[in-house]
Amino acid sequence: MLRVAAEPEPAVRPRRLRRTRAVRDAVRETRVDPRDFIYPIFVRPGRGIREPIASMPGQARLTVDLLPAEAEAVTALGVAGLLLFGLPESKDPYGSGAYDEDGIVQRAVRALRAADRDLLIMADVCLCEYTSHGHCGVIRDGGVDNDATLPLLARAAVSLAAAGADVVAPSAMMDGQVAAIRAALSEAALAETAVMAYSAKYASAFYGPFREAAGSSPQFGDRRTYQMDPGNAREAEREIALDVSEGADLVMVKPALAYLDVLQRVRPHVPVPLAAYNVSGEYAMVKAAAREGWLEEERAVLEILTAIKRAGVDLILTYHAKEAAAWLAQR
Ligand code: PBG
Repeated sequence: MLRVAAEPEPAVRPRRLRRTRAVRDAVRETRVDPRDFIYPIFVRPGRGIREPIASMPGQARLTVDLLPAEAEAVTALGVAGLLLFGLPESKDPYGSGAYDEDGIVQRAVRALRAADRDLLIMADVCLCEYTSHGHCGVIRDGGVDNDATLPLLARAAVSLAAAGADVVAPSAMMDGQVAAIRAALSEAALAETAVMAYSAKYASAFYGPFREAAGSSPQFGDRRTYQMDPGNAREAEREIALDVSEGADLVMVKPALAYLDVLQRVRPHVPVPLAAYNVSGEYAMVKAAAREGWLEEERAVLEILTAIKRAGVDLILTYHAKEAAAWLAQR
């Protein structure tokens, strides 16, 4: 029999603060709150249609007439606001549906604003859902032409702001897009509209389900000449600093989970609210594993959202928003 010398009793016992639920709750450092969530919604043409998205179980493409009721359900759960994406009736090489005054998202914004003047409405600003080639800008000589794209993004932002969006969110990763949009908003007497820049948006495999949902896959090549290389973290600081200097009111890192280090790294240097986009592929992984019974969905989702918050984030764009808000309300 092995004899162990009597150890002195530990004076310091971290377990004392884990003993009961009440004490754990009292000392928790990071809390998730539905008021930090923004819920992305896909808008499609037609009437009375809620079309499920196969690769994103629980998510659907909605027609404009169904949006006010959906928004009411989302805000009743305490979720901060909505981010809108559109599927246009038709596409062309210049993505004109993105800046059509009567475009799908412009109509969606007007319908939502008419139904609720206090609703926080954010609108994505990009061309990829509207271009026949699926790239985020216009094509010239086989590549995406940065400077030819800027005025189109600016027009899209102005049309969405004019429709009543509180926040326009450029996600095209064109250099100078925030400055171009800010200038155009000022010129259109829409200087009060905020810009949330997708500042550090990585060329990620985790956008797969979104591209299926939005029909926005590039028809040739990929997005690596404009979205960031996953190996780069210092560059995220630079992109964010640039966007802040161009007048961004909020900045974002995207995706969230494989980039928690980037969020934590940039946080101390970001003087504006910091958002993270918990993207479609991150959502789909959890849904798929939960469907197989391989993990407990509620615990996994709340752990993920807590981790994003703990990295220093103010706002989380997440498809889990509604379910997570409902779970949090029951706790
Ligand atoms: C548009 C855009 C994309 C996403 C948000 N805005 C797709 C892309 O860059 O291919 C992805 C969101 C998600 O995956 O949930 N450029």
